[in-house]
Amino acid sequence: MPLIDQQGRTHDYLRISVTDRCNLRCLYCMGEEGIEQVAHHDILTYEEIATVVRAGAELGISKIRLTGGEPLVRKNLGDLIVLIKSVEEIKDLALTTNGILLTGQAAELKKAGLDRVNISLDSLNPKVYRRTTRCGELNEVMAGIETALQLDLKPVKINTVLLKGINETEVLDFIKLTLDRPLHVRFIEYMPIGDHDRQYREHYLPLSYVEETAAQAGLPLTPTPLPGGAGPAEAYTVKGGKGTVGLIHPISRHFCDRCNRLRLTAEGNLKACLYCQDEYSVKGAINDRDALKALIVKVLSGKPSEHQMVADGSCGSVEPGAMRTMSKTGG
Ligand code: 5AD
Ligand code: SF4
Repeated sequence: MPLIDQQGRTHDYLRISVTDRCNLRCLYCMGEEGIEQVAHHDILTYEEIATVVRAGAELGISKIRLTGGEPLVRKNLGDLIVLIKSVEEIKDLALTTNGILLTGQAAELKKAGLDRVNISLDSLNPKVYRRTTRCGELNEVMAGIETALQLDLKPVKINTVLLKGINETEVLDFIKLTLDRPLHVRFIEYMPIGDHDRQYREHYLPLSYVEETAAQAGLPLTPTPLPGGAGPAEAYTVKGGKGTVGLIHPISRHFCDRCNRLRLTAEGNLKACLYCQDEYSVKGAINDRDALKALIVKVLSGKPSEHQMVADGSCGSVEPGAMRTMSKTGG
């Protein structure tokens, strides 16, 4: 029984936040002081997460992404990867990480069965990187990217949130990363999620800026098929480039009509959409496969047709500050 919602969208992708904790404090994700953390005993165990994956797999889920917070701050993530990879229907297991701890863990995760990684990187300048993450060391994430390339955790994707007044002067440097190496740099529009209104108004910039900057610099972007299957990005290549440039416009050209994903938060709440306020805890259904499957179907039935976040920072009927920050939902 495939997971098809009222809009006819087939859902085959589950994004799982394994922790809401993080070793960075990216300015678009959380306040300087961090977030109120979920207590350890409220977080789903790896066995419970795998139980949800098995139920989802019976309903047609075939792709999983592990996110956070920062997933690599949770201990023994390889154990979860082994459990998920043992579910026959799961064909693709990816990880979104800030890359800081990747060098030390990548080989073990690859051995456990991890297929590929997305690494967040918003600046190639150590000082600016420290400003966007509030505490990160650029050389650590760059080493993580190298390790991912060496271990063939491919396609290796880089997530770059475009931030006016912070990193827009680096657009060409990011595009050039795709020339010599098989790196897939995806520019993402800043979404007004969580309680940082002023930041949003100051730093939101539509991705048309990237296309214009590339064209003006004589590096026009040519459409190309997406690396590693479907997704919200539009992919482009620069002439002679080994990688691709992706554009993900959740605000200026949203892709809700193609959405194929459900989300599971670290404390075990299923959500149909980042924007959607409804959450359903799997905890009461964890020992009953049919109840779990019924819950997944129920979550999907309440999925909105599209989000209402717009460039001025307003979010339709939802208070921006009332939304879970990305670190609490899974970026
Ligand atoms: N807007 C856009 N992307 C965000 N992310 C986190 N918060 C936001 C936001 N407000 C994304 C970044 C990061 C990933 C973990 O989540 O791409 O790389
Ligand atoms: Fe941490 Fe990712 Fe949020 Fe940055 S975006 S603070 S790395 S969870």
